[in-house]
Amino acid sequence: MAAGVYLHIPFCKSRCSYCDFATDVYRVAGVVERYVNALCREIHSAAAHEAGQADSRFQDGIETIYLGGGTPSLLEPDQTKAILSAVRETFDVSPDAEITMEMNPATVTPEKLAALREMGVNRASFGVQTFNDRDLKLLARGHDANDARSTFKMLRDAGFANISFDLIAGLPGQSMDDWKANLEEAVAMQPEHLSLYLLEIHEGTPLAEQVRSGRRTPIDEELAAEMYELMVDRLTAAGYEQYEISNFARPGYESRHNTKYWTLEPVYGFGVSAHSFDGKERYANIRDTAEYVRSIEAAGDAEDFRERIALASESIFLGLRLNKGVHLEEYSRRFGPDLVEEYRSEIRYLVDAGLLETVDGYLRLTRKGRLFSNEVFERFI
Ligand SMILES: C[S@@+](CC[C@H](N)C(=O)[O-])C[C@H]1O[C@@H](n2cnc3c(N)ncnc32)[C@H](O)[C@@H]1O
Ligand code: SF4
Repeated sequence: MAAGVYLHIPFCKSRCSYCDFATDVYRVAGVVERYVNALCREIHSAAAHEAGQADSRFQDGIETIYLGGGTPSLLEPDQTKAILSAVRETFDVSPDAEITMEMNPATVTPEKLAALREMGVNRASFGVQTFNDRDLKLLARGHDANDARSTFKMLRDAGFANISFDLIAGLPGQSMDDWKANLEEAVAMQPEHLSLYLLEIHEGTPLAEQVRSGRRTPIDEELAAEMYELMVDRLTAAGYEQYEISNFARPGYESRHNTKYWTLEPVYGFGVSAHSFDGKERYANIRDTAEYVRSIEAAGDAEDFRERIALASESIFLGLRLNKGVHLEEYSRRFGPDLVEEYRSEIRYLVDAGLLETVDGYLRLTRKGRLFSNEVFERFI
């Protein structure tokens, strides 16, 4: 089965107040260089290990490469080139592979973008979060809305024809009018793809501390639900298809890489905290960057844990994230047990509650179900 490759770049210019990703503040250039060398070494030594196996996992052709972070756009072009070369030397990368880089506003120049295009990066995904400068400060994003606008223009000028950006709804103090203004500006910019999230406040982040101390008040659930509804209506009217709970695309521009996660196709992850799924097992690397580098330098490997996953139940709740849902016959063929039989009572309950429906052989979330998706997924764990 054609697979994807994920590469994690754990460096950022500063730390956003809501972020709980595995990322460090970029301080010393030498640290990045050492990390990039470790990442390339991990890819090559995984390949050497696989070469000795009769049933190599790496025989799959690669259809997608995703440089995520952190802030991969902080890398120097030569560093990105070294990483992509390591991937191409290891895997059979399809000539029309989707190659995405996550970028932050104010971290790219026309020269850097031209170099990235040259080495095959053909999709950009960048974090706007909000076009409101007051809210950007609250999130400690380290850039303003004009930086996001000029990054978008720079990407277009550099020839990027597949651009996605992220927005977050439900920020403390955000009103419905603020959210509307964000959506209008996003639609006017005409990206090919948009990812829209509702703010999650993670324990241990500065934002969680601000909420605990009363300096920030989270918005209420009803307003968050209305924001979600407005976003679906506005983007659908503007010609975007909501193909996943948080993702919208113009026809043909769905993220091929992220779709692999939702359809349980193999994705090989490299770098600190990177997760992999090889069709049977899920495994992940160490979460600490310094430890990751030490471990790769010493042994060429930084695996932290490995688990065989319950494919049948994961296939349901990952597949349900997609709007088309889970094709019942195909999934029964792939995973053996008849899903409807195994989860008959849960499915009946959720259909009666108006959260699930079956349409043309697909089991899928209703519009209401998309809003309460976590409650639905809990029933399949
Ligand atoms: C993998 S992240 C990182 C991308 C990039 N480093 C950036 O921040 O611009 C992708 C997206 O997840 C979303 N995100 C991250 N933390 C979030 C949170 N606590 N609540 C909601 N969305 C979040 C943001 O929209 C972010 O752009
Ligand atoms: S730029 Fe992205 S990964 Fe980096 S701190 Fe901010 S949210 Fe986290």
